[in-house]
Amino acid sequence: MIRKCLFPAAGYGTRFLPATKAMPKEMMPILDEPLIQYGVEESLAAGMNQIAIVTGRSKRAIEDHFDISYELEHQISGTEKEKRLVSIRNLIDKCTFSYTRQLETKGLGHAILTGETLIGDEAFGVILADDLCVGDPDPVMSQMVSLYKKRPACIIAIEEVPMAEVHKYGVIDGEDMGDGVYRVNAMVEKPSADEAPGNLAIIGRYILTPEIFDTLRNTEAGKGGELQITDALHTLAKQGKVFALKFSGRRFDCGSIDGFVEATNYFFSKSKE
Ligand code: G1P
Repeated sequence: MIRKCLFPAAGYGTRFLPATKAMPKEMMPILDEPLIQYGVEESLAAGMNQIAIVTGRSKRAIEDHFDISYELEHQISGTEKEKRLVSIRNLIDKCTFSYTRQLETKGLGHAILTGETLIGDEAFGVILADDLCVGDPDPVMSQMVSLYKKRPACIIAIEEVPMAEVHKYGVIDGEDMGDGVYRVNAMVEKPSADEAPGNLAIIGRYILTPEIFDTLRNTEAGKGGELQITDALHTLAKQGKVFALKFSGRRFDCGSIDGFVEATNYFFSKSKE
């Protein structure tokens, strides 16, 4: 039903410098898979096989990753090593990949608006690859699609965070409707603990209706002078068009060193089981 998933991937990844000086942060691996590959797997599992990536300068490695490397295939063909390419080949077979460049990094809202040319007039998913999610039992985007089928509106994934950390997130105010679903009334981008309406933080998974594009065009720059998706969604929330889902599973903030190491340890111990 929802076929497209947008991956904003133009950011600099400054928290991982110097590692991300010449390499996209989305290509940082957790064990042997780059972060963005986990995201594309989650997207495909949710039925979204048209992958739309908003890139920027120094992001060529992403395009090469989702392409065939004839030289490499030739080198390892018929050897044991061939099986190491199975997961990426599967994605290349089942998905299409299209790209557009964000010329200036002017915020997540701006990145999503840049992706309009790849999305057009239909509902779509958004995955921020540095939020690595392990859904239980279903992947987080699949959980969101199930909710979208019942409530065809904008859906955002949320989780409770300590009040001391709300300043790192978009935070919602909503009415608990049971089963982890909230009708969102208001959203604030990176509030201080005093200003925050609670501790339900937005994580990097969204389902958006195409109305978001016009809404973004009519939204002014917000926190940090950037166009914020949270502000555009706040406008739609006031019209009752946004629901939040407290997903079941775990999320690792792989945009920070701590979260990245935690994710690595988690996947490592899983791989040993
Ligand atoms: C973005 C969003 C924020 C959200 C977060 C989730 O912030 O602006 O609302 O809570 O992603 O990871 P960023 O982490 O890109 O600063």
